[in-house]
Amino acid sequence: MTKIDFDQYAGQYEALIAAQTSFFDRDNDYFVRYKVERAKELTGEADAVLDFGCGIGRAMPYFRSAFPNADVVGCDPSADSLTIARRDNPDCRFFPMDELAATPHFDLVLASCVFHHIAPAERQDALRYAYDRLKPGGHFVIFEHNPFNPVTQRLVSTCPFDADAVLLRMSETVRRMREAKFEISETGYCLFFPSQLAGLRPMEKYLSWLPLGGQYFVSGVKA
Ligand SMILES: C[S@@+](CC[C@H](N)C(=O)[O-])C[C@H]1O[C@@H](n2cnc3c(N)ncnc32)[C@H](O)[C@@H]1O
Repeated sequence: MTKIDFDQYAGQYEALIAAQTSFFDRDNDYFVRYKVERAKELTGEADAVLDFGCGIGRAMPYFRSAFPNADVVGCDPSADSLTIARRDNPDCRFFPMDELAATPHFDLVLASCVFHHIAPAERQDALRYAYDRLKPGGHFVIFEHNPFNPVTQRLVSTCPFDADAVLLRMSETVRRMREAKFEISETGYCLFFPSQLAGLRPMEKYLSWLPLGGQYFVSGVKA
């Protein structure tokens, strides 16, 4: 399978995301804001946060608002995505993958919809990348598409930049994080209710055991 080069999609990424997610919420930032806020609930305060596979930096304004005094950093293999991220987020720092120092600087690393683009044989290396850059006690929070959700399956099968996607079940993500020496602190399915059912969204936390959400998260702690 040919790996997707996100440089080809950087300029249209925002529009493609809008086309994919507007059925769920016309606020295109709902997903990204949700994940940053949930990651903060899972991890607490942080002096330094890393968005692993940050793309064009869509999460950065929400990181900045959730962690006003933190060092907010993004890394990604797509140079064109990083150019947009830097232009739109001058108060954050951005690095190509191999230029971010492998020192334990971060309290939180978030990877949102990145691992399904990483070939299975390379996933442990990606987990090690995050592990090496976390402080002891730091959290790695992974959000991924839920392969059990039929709507998610259809969206992935029609999304041009998901042509290389190999979805991971929550059980695979948990197993891989444990193999990478993370202690699992919390897991859950999420993103159940579209905006038409927004009144039910506060119920999500009680449904996190139900493998029907559009996505799921796994939070692991570096011992
Ligand atoms: C679907 S986009 C998600 C971008 C961003 N996290 C978001 O939620 O908007 C996937 C991103 O993962 C990046 N990516 C692909 N392979 C990667 C790898 N091995 N390590 C880190 N990032 C990777 C891509 O360049 C792309 O920007």
